[in-house]
Amino acid sequence: MSPRALVVAVLLLPTLSALPAHAAAKVDCAKVKCLALTFDDGPGPSTGALLSTLKKSGAKATFFLMGKHVEQRPTLVKRMAAEGHEIGNHTWSHPSLPTLFDEEITRELRATQEAIEGLIGRAPRMFRPPYGHTDDRVAGLAGEEGMAQVLWTGTTLDWKLRDQKKIRAAVLRLAKRDGVILMHDVVPQTVQVMPALVKDLRKRGYHLVTVSTLLRGRKLTPGETYPI
Ligand code: NI
Repeated sequence: MSPRALVVAVLLLPTLSALPAHAAAKVDCAKVKCLALTFDDGPGPSTGALLSTLKKSGAKATFFLMGKHVEQRPTLVKRMAAEGHEIGNHTWSHPSLPTLFDEEITRELRATQEAIEGLIGRAPRMFRPPYGHTDDRVAGLAGEEGMAQVLWTGTTLDWKLRDQKKIRAAVLRLAKRDGVILMHDVVPQTVQVMPALVKDLRKRGYHLVTVSTLLRGRKLTPGETYPI
C-alpha cells in the first residue's frame, strides 16, 4: 500500500465505522419475508422502552404519531427518526375524520405535519386515520397535505386485550408476508411483550421493516391508500 493510499484508508475508517447499523443492512422484501409492525397514538410513556427493544434486535417499525403527543415528548420523536424508524401522521387530537368539515381535517393533519417536521426536518408522507374511519374526501385532503393513507392487513385490538399472552397470539396469527400489523405503543402490555414477540417473528423467518421498505422502492402517491 502506498503512503498516499494508507492516508486515504486511515481517513476513511472512522467514517465507515460511524455509519448507523440500519444504513448497512438494506432489506430487499422481494427476496426475503417482510412484515411491518406499526404503532399508533404515541409517543407515550412506554415508547422509550419499545425503541430500546427494537434497537437491540435491529428491527424497524413505523409510528403513526398524534400531534399533541409529539408536542409532549419531542425527544422520543427525534430518537425514532435517528434510529431508522418511519414516522407517519395520526392527526393532532384523534378525531373521527369523516365527521369533520374540510378545514378541520386539514387543520388536524397540517398541525401534526408541522410539529413533526419541526423536530426531524421532514414532514411525513403517510397518515393513518384514527379508528380507521375514512372516506374519499379524507384521503383526498390528506393527499393535498402530501400524504398517502396507510391502513393495515391485521389489527391486534391490543387496546382491548390488554394482556401480553393474547397480544402475542394475535400478532402471530395475523403475521403474513408483506403484512402491516396495527398495534399501539401507548398500550403497556404491547411494549412489554415485544422482546418475546420480536424473537417469535424472527424464528418464523420475518424481517421486521418499515412500511416504506415493504414497498421495494416504490413511492406512495399522495392521496392513495395502502395496503388496499
Ligand atoms: Ni389511533
